Amino acid sequence: MRRAIRGSVLSFRGDPFQLPLDEAVLHLQDAVVLIEDGRIVSVEPAERALAELPPGTPVDHYPEGLISAGFIDAHVHYPQMQMIGAYGDELLAWLERYTFVAEQDFADEAHARDVAGRFLRELLRAGTTTAAVYCTVHPGSVEAFFAESERFNTRMIAGKVLMDRNAPEALRDTAETGYEQSRALIERWHGRGRQLYCVTPRFAPSSTQAQLEAAARLWREHPGTYVQTHLCENRGEIEWVHELFPERSSYLDVYDHAGLTGPRAIFGHAVHMDETDFACCHRTGSALAHCPTSNLFLGSGLFRLFEARRADRPVHVALGTDLGAGTAFSQLQTMNEAYKVAKLGGTTLTPAQAFWLATRGAAEALHLADRVGAVEPGLEADLIVLDPKATPLLAFRTAYCRDLPELLSVLLTLGDDRAIRATYVAGEAVYDREREEPFRYP
Ligand code: GUN
Ligand code: ZN
Repeated sequence: MRRAIRGSVLSFRGDPFQLPLDEAVLHLQDAVVLIEDGRIVSVEPAERALAELPPGTPVDHYPEGLISAGFIDAHVHYPQMQMIGAYGDELLAWLERYTFVAEQDFADEAHARDVAGRFLRELLRAGTTTAAVYCTVHPGSVEAFFAESERFNTRMIAGKVLMDRNAPEALRDTAETGYEQSRALIERWHGRGRQLYCVTPRFAPSSTQAQLEAAARLWREHPGTYVQTHLCENRGEIEWVHELFPERSSYLDVYDHAGLTGPRAIFGHAVHMDETDFACCHRTGSALAHCPTSNLFLGSGLFRLFEARRADRPVHVALGTDLGAGTAFSQLQTMNEAYKVAKLGGTTLTPAQAFWLATRGAAEALHLADRVGAVEPGLEADLIVLDPKATPLLAFRTAYCRDLPELLSVLLTLGDDRAIRATYVAGEAVYDREREEPFRYP
């Protein structure tokens, strides 16, 4: 199947934390992205591309649109969609009062399936085509999620939450059952179509040493799988980890000692990190998911992005929404909050850096840069079309933009899911805001 998409193109050739803007960014005013069998074949100026286009190739033309790689969300909880905006508490009380209540509903696979479908549609509406997703402790919640993702053919990373202590009885597994259930899910789903499995111990306080070690064993035994957990999110949580693991030198050392650091390890939050922690992430190739809307909503603290990205020992960082502690599906809104968090830390996140953290930078952090994250020949055609005139205010404001950085800044400041005109998954327009039925698989 062949198709072409025409519009402006925004992509990244390199890391805007390390390179000047013009070396890092690819920006073509009027270009054609040619797609064959779900992959990008060429990205060329429209005049040349149209002359060479095989006859009969359908062209989706977005004269005002900005074509980008689909956004990547490096940390999100689909079962928490039903408790977004549950207010008042900090992390540990919030988990007890809201999260552990909501997650018990996912014992019912029909409920899980319903929420997973809604969740995926919200992601696609927001322009997110890949996410690292926490399910619940119930294997059925993973089954439901991957089954829905498979319908959309989205490249998703997800796994069953592991918890064998400090959680309600109904949400606990054991080191052995957690291992066995996860192994069965890996065998069934990892590498099936575009689905990827993520071993998911929730966080150190809710797993015994035995469970953390079982998780590490599982991860090691299945190369190519991921591991995700929470790290250094909240002061009270960190103190609790010190009490639970007195023999370990830090929160991160608990994971490192258990064998849970390395390439394809994703640590959510990492708000309260010292130099030893950042150095460990750099040395092991572990990635951090920066979740600004969540850190602000729960009052957890301010992630030190520029400390993490320090040029002499850069740590992989990607943006995460962390719904339901996070407050938006949109990575544009997440970039907006990341900008403000950086500002409060005395630093400036440039618009190019913000977009990179949700596209190519995230793909590099997740070891997926050879598949997704850029508008580049050979990659899978997970693409979005941004609409700089999506709302009356955006149309008014963007008319005054003098250059690309200003346009991107305005998009991330004023934009949300309304700024996503269309979302393509493996070359197929699964979402189009202007269609009567916007979703291809309602
Ligand atoms: N730490 C452990 N579990 C969670 C969770 O569900 N959300 C957040 N934000 N932090 C956590
Ligand atoms: Zn989380």
